[in-house]
Amino acid sequence: MTTRIWLMEGLSSQRDIIQGITAFSKSHQVDVEVFASHRHQRNEILSQADFALLEPADEQQRLNFILTTVNKYAIQAIHTGRNALWFETHRAAIEACGVRLATGATRPDLLELADDKVAFAQLMEKHGLPVVPSIRVNSAAELRQLIAASPFSEPLCIKPVTGIYGMGFWRFDDSVSPMATFTHPENRKVNAGLYLNALEESDSFEPLVLMPYLPGPEYSVDILAERGTVLAAVARRKEGALQYLENSGEAFELAKACAQVMGADGLVNVQTRNDSSGKPVLLEINMRPSGGIGYTRFSGVNLPGLFALRQLGLMEPQAIIDEASRVFSPATVRSVTDVINYSTALPNFIQ
Ligand SMILES: Nc1ncnc2c1ncn2[C@@H]1O[C@H](COP(=O)(O)OP(=O)(O)OP(=O)(O)O)[C@@H](O)[C@H]1O
Ligand SMILES: [Mg+2]
Repeated sequence: MTTRIWLMEGLSSQRDIIQGITAFSKSHQVDVEVFASHRHQRNEILSQADFALLEPADEQQRLNFILTTVNKYAIQAIHTGRNALWFETHRAAIEACGVRLATGATRPDLLELADDKVAFAQLMEKHGLPVVPSIRVNSAAELRQLIAASPFSEPLCIKPVTGIYGMGFWRFDDSVSPMATFTHPENRKVNAGLYLNALEESDSFEPLVLMPYLPGPEYSVDILAERGTVLAAVARRKEGALQYLENSGEAFELAKACAQVMGADGLVNVQTRNDSSGKPVLLEINMRPSGGIGYTRFSGVNLPGLFALRQLGLMEPQAIIDEASRVFSPATVRSVTDVINYSTALPNFIQ
């Protein structure tokens, strides 16, 4: 029997997820057709699926588009990597047509909480999970005071309360010259006085979180969960340009505990960093697949494939747990800049 899964707009890793599912269903000899859609003409992603669609730009048309597509093609499972809050608030209407929906979460309030790094830290503390000490900063004046009388003994760093791609993350370091921030932005170091001046001169203010700078290493843990139960996970320990794939250890266990508390459902990503005493603490959870989820396949564990077969009812939870621990083998990976042939035509386009 043919089963059908639909990957709706996600991050660039939507491409790796589609490839993972396709490879896995082939090796497990199950008949899975993959549908993919995006709001934009992302042919490098859409071309990887069996069937491609463009999503409506207008959110008002999304529900109708989903229901029509699910009915027309008899799709059994939908995954979304973006717009999760919209999907979560329309879950009942979407699932009423008999499709299984994965947004990464099961509750809108926990999705919103995951996006607020300070609220997230407070919830983790409440559950006794170690997390980076996080102070919400509501004005430039507040930041000036906090920097003058730091509550932490370590060097300080800052980032927006909500954010993605590490944008706005800076380490305060008064030993760097003011110009160093412009000549070497990749070091993410800024003179605190310079930062404060810029902040005070800005017309707008976005809430910030002030933290001690954690020396690392950093872990990014990709997790497959079902209503808060972790079925499979692969940790990437990041050291310099290399990433080490692991499936045990303190950071790995902490990430799994975090996903459980957050009621994760689908593919999610938890990041930790070791503090100055060498203990991992939580940095954040993203209730969606990470950009690097595709890298984890080098461990032998195909998280997107396991996810798809589970969503389609082709694999039981215990079988996933068993397979993930049986096939895992440690690996070291390095990301490289690559280029692919971009086809301007989409032969699999079905609209
Ligand atoms: N307290 C900290 N100490 C040291 N490094 C930190 C700290 N907070 C954040 N970082 C660094 O900044 C990066 C971005 O932080 P964070 O993951 O919280 O933000 P983000 O914008 O959500 O990033 P992304 O979505 O790309 O993972 C982290 O991966 C980490 O390397
Ligand atoms: Mg992050």
